Amino acid sequence: MMGAGQLARMSHQAAISLGIPLRILAADATDSAALVSPTIDIGDPGSAADLRRFATGCEIVTFDHELVDLDALAELEHAGTVIARPSAAALAFATDKAHQRTRFAHRGLPLPRHRIVADAATALAAAEELGWPAVVKTARGGYDGRGVWIVADADAAQAVLTTLTDADGVLPTVIVEEAVRIERELAVVVVRGAQGTTVSYPVTETVQVDGICRETITPARVSPEVAAEATRIAEAAAEVAGAVGLIAVELFYDGTDITINEVATRPHNSAHWSIEGAVTSQFENHLRAVADLPLGDTATRAPVVVSANILGHADGRDPADHLGAALAVRGAAVHLYGKGPRPGRKLGHVTVLADTIDDARSRARSAVARLGDPVPEVSQ
Ligand SMILES: Nc1ncnc2c1ncn2[C@@H]1O[C@H](COP(=O)(O)OP(=O)(O)OP(=O)(O)O)[C@@H](O)[C@H]1O
Ligand SMILES: [Mg+2]
Repeated sequence: MMGAGQLARMSHQAAISLGIPLRILAADATDSAALVSPTIDIGDPGSAADLRRFATGCEIVTFDHELVDLDALAELEHAGTVIARPSAAALAFATDKAHQRTRFAHRGLPLPRHRIVADAATALAAAEELGWPAVVKTARGGYDGRGVWIVADADAAQAVLTTLTDADGVLPTVIVEEAVRIERELAVVVVRGAQGTTVSYPVTETVQVDGICRETITPARVSPEVAAEATRIAEAAAEVAGAVGLIAVELFYDGTDITINEVATRPHNSAHWSIEGAVTSQFENHLRAVADLPLGDTATRAPVVVSANILGHADGRDPADHLGAALAVRGAAVHLYGKGPRPGRKLGHVTVLADTIDDARSRARSAVARLGDPVPEVSQ
């Protein structure tokens, strides 16, 4: 697995029980997964030389993130030296939101009204046309809401476009789109096997605050019809993505329509709940898919599963120092990623299985508040 963040760390945990020898390419020996893996290789998947050295020693390569030298990877794939799952082509799709939008539109899948633009004047005209507030987002390189701005008017849009413009006056490709009045933000994690078989996890609701996922509720609080439609759209999107392994499809539901926000072709924050809450965790299913093994059951193990993220507290506390307090919360499954505590940084998550949403939520939130920044009450 290239990249050694928390996704690789939790994949490593799943690899242990299956006896799959997972080697990890880490940028640094203190990366989340590097701290727990005996078989790490230090290097940068964004460097062609490091990627080549690492990949040629592996039977199959997969990814914790998408910041990979895709040309070097494609070359190795075409030479038959390396099996990449997902492939370089699928990763190229996942790293470019504009590319995703174009392909989904071509397939007739529902999207927020949007324009893909490459200069400020066209961007402003697009926002005027779509109406204020509008959303400006960079096509590449964003995560946790970095790279996404909700702008109230032309002045605010201009300010964002100015900061995005480089010294040579070039604006990177941006998407200008309508600000969707989101009633529920949903995610469906689809698993595609190496032979094309597909299973999906139940629809999850993600509670986002300032572009960061704070909490997930599974199953999502939507009608069975909306859940079925979300799954149908997500499975179609996963087919377009064409990746082997996990494909997380982020969706908006405005109370009437479902639209696709974006997809990621790797394990995803919206399915961390599956470690305790599903028969087979997303991490195990990702490994099963890329290793061409039968896919596992995605059913939930309880009526409700809530996961809440541990974000670094403003007081700088290390969640490891408060583990006892969090574990005193009944049924709280605590996951710490071994990352240095910084305010706002994702340091871990807590999952609770329960019979009701209120019970699961209050216990997960109570444990999280002991470890890091409390989940804001303003969230739905
Ligand atoms: N068009 C929109 N209308 C309303 N809210 C939006 C829109 N686009 C994005 N958002 C909000 O911003 C959040 C982050 O957007 P997006 O998923 O595009 O960014 P990201 O930084 O790639 O996120 P991730 O952390 O999933 O990588 C969304 O989850 C949603 O809450
Ligand atoms: Mg997102």
